[in-house]
Amino acid sequence: MAANHKTGTVLITGASSGIGRATCLYLAQRGYTVIGTSRVAGRLDGVREDARKGGVEVHGVELDINSDSEVERVIPEVISEHGVIDALVNNAGYGLWGPVESLSIDELRAQFETNLFAAVRMTKAVLPGMLEQRRGKIVNVSSVLGRLATPFNGAYASSKFALEGLSESMRTELWPFGVQVSVVEPGLFETDFQANQVKAERSQDPALAYIEYVQRYNSRHGQYEKFSSDPVKVSKVIHKIIRSKRSGFRYPVSIEARAGILGARFLPERLFRWLVSRATMR
Ligand SMILES: NC(=O)c1ccc[n+]([C@@H]2O[C@H](COP(=O)([O-])OP(=O)(O)OC[C@H]3O[C@@H](n4cnc5c(N)ncnc54)[C@H](OP(=O)(O)O)[C@@H]3O)[C@@H](O)[C@H]2O)c1
Repeated sequence: MAANHKTGTVLITGASSGIGRATCLYLAQRGYTVIGTSRVAGRLDGVREDARKGGVEVHGVELDINSDSEVERVIPEVISEHGVIDALVNNAGYGLWGPVESLSIDELRAQFETNLFAAVRMTKAVLPGMLEQRRGKIVNVSSVLGRLATPFNGAYASSKFALEGLSESMRTELWPFGVQVSVVEPGLFETDFQANQVKAERSQDPALAYIEYVQRYNSRHGQYEKFSSDPVKVSKVIHKIIRSKRSGFRYPVSIEARAGILGARFLPERLFRWLVSRATMR
């Protein structure tokens, strides 16, 4: 099928759920050719069906973004079917939770594999086409935790901080070639993110000194869930980035994300740390 040259072809990872799913539908409804990936093809049935009901199409592709050989095999097939990818949305990700001391190196490595290395792998796979046409957008879905780190989220926050650093570097490297890199920094959104969170195996170990704080964190966290927003808000921001001639670099999404980022930047460090501690584990 030919690419839709009016609006462009967008490849979105982690399309089976949450922000990825909402963004596939949002962009398909606006005339983009949308290709969504999941590690399991059947998980894309829902988004494809919703698209069909709305009179549009989302193309589903089974792809494990954590695998070099799969990305090297599948992305050229996608490009030969749909044409050059105009925009890549590196959205797939999950949170590894637990005090840093409780994390095994393998758990931490897996966190970076998906949240950082897979984004690089996907970017490398689509870049040659973008460079050739001297046009393209790379949108990396980071988090407010890519700007500030809360307790027990050290693995996740460090993977998003790393993604932001990498994106900042690429933004400058790729600018002369017409390829623009941006990061999106959502706050709290109603998705399966909490349900899919991976708790480090040793995180609840009563022998660890943090157990009292971990329990308080767990009871506090439920109180914040009522502030979660519809993920389509993130889709709108991604759409804005993709269609703008000159996109900006950082896009915080939601009031709590903006407030947190401003606090981290402008409040005295000890005051900010005290506030974070009170809000999460004390
Ligand atoms: N929800 C929030 O409040 C929030 C806030 C800030 C940032 N974010 C970021 O937004 C992005 C999307 O998250 P979401 O909230 O939409 O969560 P979600 O509903 O759990 O969806 C996550 C998606 O990522 C994929 N994924 C999860 N773990 C993976 C792994 N180990 N390897 C490959 N793919 C994996 C899943 O695809 P499969 O079908 O392959 O499982 C799924 O489609 C993530 O990068 C997350 O860090 C979310």
